[in-house]
Amino acid sequence: MSDAIKVGFVQLSAAARGILVVFCDDGLKLGPATAKALGGATELVKRAASAAAFKGKSGAALDILAPEGVKATRLIVIGVGAGKATGLKANDFFKFGGVAAGKLSAGAAAMTIMAELPDGAMTSEQAVAIASGLRLRAYKFDRYKTKKKDGEEGGSRADISLAVGDVAAAKKAFASAGHVVDGVIIARDLVNEPPNVLFPEEFARRASLLRKLGVKVEVLDVKAMDKLGMGALLGVGQGSTRPSRTVIMRWDGGKKGEAPVAFVGKGVCFDTGGISIKPAGSMEDMKGDMGGAACVVGLMHALAARKAKANVVGAIGLVENMPDGNAQRPGDIVTSMSGQTIEIINTDAEGRLVLADVLWYVAKKTKPKFMVDLATLTGAIVVALGTEHAGMFSNNDELADRLLTAGIESGEKVWRLPLGPEYDKLIDSQFADMKNTGGRHGGSITAAQFLQRFVDGTPWAHLDIAGTAMGAPKTDINQSWGSGYGVRLLDRLVADHYERK
Ligand code: BES
Ligand code: MN
Ligand code: ZN
Repeated sequence: MSDAIKVGFVQLSAAARGILVVFCDDGLKLGPATAKALGGATELVKRAASAAAFKGKSGAALDILAPEGVKATRLIVIGVGAGKATGLKANDFFKFGGVAAGKLSAGAAAMTIMAELPDGAMTSEQAVAIASGLRLRAYKFDRYKTKKKDGEEGGSRADISLAVGDVAAAKKAFASAGHVVDGVIIARDLVNEPPNVLFPEEFARRASLLRKLGVKVEVLDVKAMDKLGMGALLGVGQGSTRPSRTVIMRWDGGKKGEAPVAFVGKGVCFDTGGISIKPAGSMEDMKGDMGGAACVVGLMHALAARKAKANVVGAIGLVENMPDGNAQRPGDIVTSMSGQTIEIINTDAEGRLVLADVLWYVAKKTKPKFMVDLATLTGAIVVALGTEHAGMFSNNDELADRLLTAGIESGEKVWRLPLGPEYDKLIDSQFADMKNTGGRHGGSITAAQFLQRFVDGTPWAHLDIAGTAMGAPKTDINQSWGSGYGVRLLDRLVADHYERK
């Protein structure tokens, strides 16, 4: 998907073009270069603010005609709240960029954003986070619309200049941050694609495009998975005419021979529920049941494109869960790659079966420092946490704390929920080593307990992203159904803790 906007950098002192965007704090204080650019108009801005009850709250915007003497069409003042005093995070700057992009009207336009806080120029990282926010907000998935709305046709792009203190430094930082935005967009595209287009083989083909960036991509077909004994994953896909795939991606940007970090994604390209079929209402949303796998591909893109100095494994299990004469039945017992047997109680609890084999494969074959899996795993997590936080389960406090912090900084928040032997008992089976559902109580927790039986003691965290990967309310930086959740969170985790300096 091509961008609807183009972002460049100019000096803070440069003359504004088009719409002028500036920042103020909750005392309506402007930065020095901003005040200079507005000249005698600062009093008028104060009056407009008071008339519009604009108080400079974080992310609030005052949108007025550019006053006399200001070389711009419109003037938009965005609040940063208490500014420095509140400890602004990367996520705040993403949001400011999103708010600014939301002020662009359809069709081509020019905008100049003065990347200055009341106490002086923003850092390059802050200015670049604004640029990222602009692009994230401007993303639209319109590949299948043959008729464009007025002002949308002809590929006209808004031309946005960020006025910064240090142009060269900002350009350099954006080169890297831009790859992360590209990764988010790749993940969003994958989630938004319809399930007749994006089935396991096609998903594997798209993941294989990462080879262009130097990622090693290995695709396991049904025969290869059969040989490995991946009976849990294969059981899910056996009712579909579209064959299952597992894709292993490796980015070796770290020290040679150093253990990698690993990310594992649930890639159920469509989840009908199988024989335990889902009701018709909103079943179309189950095209997004590969949001975990989409995130892993987007993340691998981001890390490889920005040449992250870390060894990283990405692994995704790709299946389609269909009812059919050959489909798996409730009552079936399957043998996983680990050798553990699983009694199928409900064929709609398929994600954990897919992950069971991929987690085991990654733990055994790559011996990672840790594994983080992402999965649109349970409806119960949406009931518990809504769309604001992903559910997090972990056997390792250090990893959990790092994810928690990365979540706050990136704005892709996680909330930790418990694991424990009492919950684990709930998935014991009378016929096999375990069953694939634990009953109605604590549904997200028993799903996580199931996964834990396949990590073989590896430090691990499971993120249940059923509420955050798709269908969440639109935000300042996401207007799309598929959110691309997790790419920024995990890029941050890697950048902050696992990259060779
Ligand atoms: N893919 C669904 C979970 C889901 C629900 C994701 C809503 C996004 C939005 C998963 O495979 C599923 O069907 N889970 C069942 C588990 C149950 C049968 C134990 C659920 O949550 O109802
Ligand atoms: Mn299901
Ligand atoms: Zn599912």
